[in-house]
Amino acid sequence: MKKHWWHKATIYQIYPKSFMDSNGDGVGDLKGIISELDYLKKLGITAIWLSPVYQSPMDDNGYDISDYEAIADIFGDMADMEELLAEANKRHIRIIMDLVVNHTSDEHAWFVEARENPSSPERDFYIWRDQPNGLKSTFSGSAWQYDEASNQYYLHLFSKKQPDLNWENADLRQKIYDMMNRWIDKGVAGFRMDVIDLIGKIPDQEITGNGPKLHDYLKEMHQASLLNKDLLTVGETWGATPEIAKQYSNPDNHELSMVFQFEHIGLQHKPNAPKWDYETELNVPALKEIFTKWQTKLELGQGWNSLFWNNHDLPRVLSIWGNDGEYREKSGKAFAVLLHLMRGTPYIYQGEEIGMTNYPFADLTEIEDIESVNYAKEALEEGQDLESIMDSIRAIGRDNARTPMQWTAGQQAGFSRADKTWLPVHPNHEAINVEAALADSESLFYTYQKLVALRKTQDWLIDADFELLNTANKVFAYKRRTADESYLIVVNLSDQVQPFELAVEGEVIIGNTCVETVSKTKQLQAWDAFCLKI
Ligand code: GLC
Repeated sequence: MKKHWWHKATIYQIYPKSFMDSNGDGVGDLKGIISELDYLKKLGITAIWLSPVYQSPMDDNGYDISDYEAIADIFGDMADMEELLAEANKRHIRIIMDLVVNHTSDEHAWFVEARENPSSPERDFYIWRDQPNGLKSTFSGSAWQYDEASNQYYLHLFSKKQPDLNWENADLRQKIYDMMNRWIDKGVAGFRMDVIDLIGKIPDQEITGNGPKLHDYLKEMHQASLLNKDLLTVGETWGATPEIAKQYSNPDNHELSMVFQFEHIGLQHKPNAPKWDYETELNVPALKEIFTKWQTKLELGQGWNSLFWNNHDLPRVLSIWGNDGEYREKSGKAFAVLLHLMRGTPYIYQGEEIGMTNYPFADLTEIEDIESVNYAKEALEEGQDLESIMDSIRAIGRDNARTPMQWTAGQQAGFSRADKTWLPVHPNHEAINVEAALADSESLFYTYQKLVALRKTQDWLIDADFELLNTANKVFAYKRRTADESYLIVVNLSDQVQPFELAVEGEVIIGNTCVETVSKTKQLQAWDAFCLKI
């Protein structure tokens, strides 16, 4: 199998509004990111996935783009972006841009023209119908918005300020590839493709994900923009199965480097229930089954997967599945060890490496995210009580991941000198912050640092096969084996002591516990985790 740089990479995701504010307006910005590149270098990551920094009215925090080739004023300007690319490059950190091309903002020039001038070529860049059908928006309500001037409806699978692009239009597709090429010329190392599985939709048949032309479009995009450039392309593919993942990421197919699929995250919801029907009890047997499926069915050379617990759309894993109290650091290490020693490219979401937690949102006035706001509005109208709505938002709302990065124990966690930040700083920043993490050689940060370093040097992380071991329900243990090496990874995913017979001896590669004690007592303590070379 031909190996690429991203097989050995760990990616760090930055949510620009919340990473570092350099100008004191309470919102993070590009200069802020530049000022913390040395911190990221210390962590050792290979690349940054930069959530959108393009010009945008910020209805969905930048996932509604009004100009793909300008930078939002709140983040800086193109000179700052170029400086970020140059400064990151000096530190051997690559920049992966978020590519949001399923939709634009309704303030994008194309949509403005399409709306004002129904006979313009831009009209067909979007999806217009005389009558709405049953398609629903991810952000509540119908996916169709009435446009009075033309007496037609346009499709928006997200907010009504995010009209869907019509990928059937070849001129539109070419404009997108040209735009990508200009970013590639600026020196970006790849793209994270937002809800890319939706671009092949057939609205009239209510087909949204995995539409019939999806893979043709991706092959065309590859030819037009990606061929022979050794870029990292990762598709956000919610409903992918291992079979579908191979379509996207088998190198012979010339589509994407890897998928970013959410099957394990599905366990945060009740089976077959809507998103807001959350489940905080981690179903470990189901988690084992899902990971084993992906580790074994996406054969080496046939496709590639991403490994993650967190991103900007998810609750903090420590709060939903870990223990964000007594075992905060220890459960954080357990999740990190479990994930980072599997096959795939690991992603760290800002703050994960210091064990940031969900935020105790008091009421709706503290909620910013359009998805949560719309959900609350709709649920209230349907007569649900406010407290149960708030419980859902507190458990899995997207704002949890978006509160400012906690740099210090000081004012606004060192994130900003503003009196008020765009989302509140978590009160636990007094204990949980970068400064404290760096000062403690046993902190979660250093576990991540070590895992990132292992990823770069240990080829078995790519090559070795995967075998799930038969253990107590709450223990996740697996072996990775190559022709001449074997590794054992054992993690107790619970607050309770668990039985575990360690039948082998070996060199400890990484862990958060004393392996000799595990061996002697035949028990794992709460959140014990380790990897042995056996
Ligand atoms: C993706 C993004 C999410 C955004 C949505 C619409 O799922 O990760 O943040 O709201 O697409 O662009």
